[in-house]
Amino acid sequence: MKLSFTIRGTTALITGATAGLGAEFARQLAPVASRLILVGRREERLNELAASLQKSAPQVRLDPFKADLALPSERERLAAWIIREEIPLTLLVNNAGLGDLGPFDNAEWKRLSPMLEVNVTALTHLTHLLLPMLRLQIPSAILNVSSVAGYFPLPEMAVYAATKAYVTSFSEALRMELAHHGVTVTALCPGPVATEFFEVASRYGESIRAMDRSHPALATTPQTVIRKALRGLEKDKPGVIPNKLLALLVRSSLLLPFPLIRAAIKLGAGPKSPRKTEAV
Ligand SMILES: NC(=O)c1ccc[n+]([C@@H]2O[C@H](COP(=O)([O-])OP(=O)(O)OC[C@H]3O[C@@H](n4cnc5c(N)ncnc54)[C@H](OP(=O)(O)O)[C@@H]3O)[C@@H](O)[C@H]2O)c1
Repeated sequence: MKLSFTIRGTTALITGATAGLGAEFARQLAPVASRLILVGRREERLNELAASLQKSAPQVRLDPFKADLALPSERERLAAWIIREEIPLTLLVNNAGLGDLGPFDNAEWKRLSPMLEVNVTALTHLTHLLLPMLRLQIPSAILNVSSVAGYFPLPEMAVYAATKAYVTSFSEALRMELAHHGVTVTALCPGPVATEFFEVASRYGESIRAMDRSHPALATTPQTVIRKALRGLEKDKPGVIPNKLLALLVRSSLLLPFPLIRAAIKLGAGPKSPRKTEAV
């Protein structure tokens, strides 16, 4: 009989818990979880979140853990602590991530490099470091936060979309590898969500426009994204697109020949971000 992962009683590690979707994962998991390890760079925010969750969910044990996941040594320190403390991890939420909006040719490497490091390398490294712990606690689960951006090449988000294509592909393959080992893998692929993401991704403070550019029907609240993600995880879904219309659009687009998709993307593409020289 196949054992199913459940969030009830889970011990979960959530990366990027200081804001947006990561904080919402913590809020929705706290009432049902045994223990949550909250990871991010902004320690004060981690402590504030832990304090407020403790009030509403006194049964859950909370461990704020300050770490810069762009650094391999910090990822190793985090995993070493979990292994040393023999924390019975049943859920790894690889959520931390960031974007960079604008043309590739004038992108700054100091923005691209941490994006590649956090979105791709840290997600892979933490999974590699912690999979042995997850395999000790089956049924257990990995939830990788990808994006609908990962399904298509996106001009002016070229590197971000490519990192998310990696996350979706990696998640699907790992899921197949782990299918008979009691560890389920799900890729969460949201469309636009109002978090700090666009503020961080904007080069010249054009964040409001960036979020506004998306059609309201395609946007989803953080609460809905996480509710659907956790439901999808428990139902052992390979992927979750937490907006019905967007899911329909993405899934039907994927049936089209790629040259058609390319033509549609080209039509929609055009200079959206101000160039560096245009910034005030
Ligand atoms: N918002 C959207 O429209 C959207 C759509 C699709 C997918 N996503 C994905 O959803 C995930 C969460 O994004 P969000 O929307 O919640 O954005 P957010 O509000 O900006 O939160 C990003 C989180 O990542 C953490 N993070 C960034 N760099 C880090 C580092 N070097 N070390 C540790 N933590 C780091 C941040 O924590 P600190 O800054 O405190 O370290 C923060 O908690 C990302 O993977 C993003 O790509 C977002």
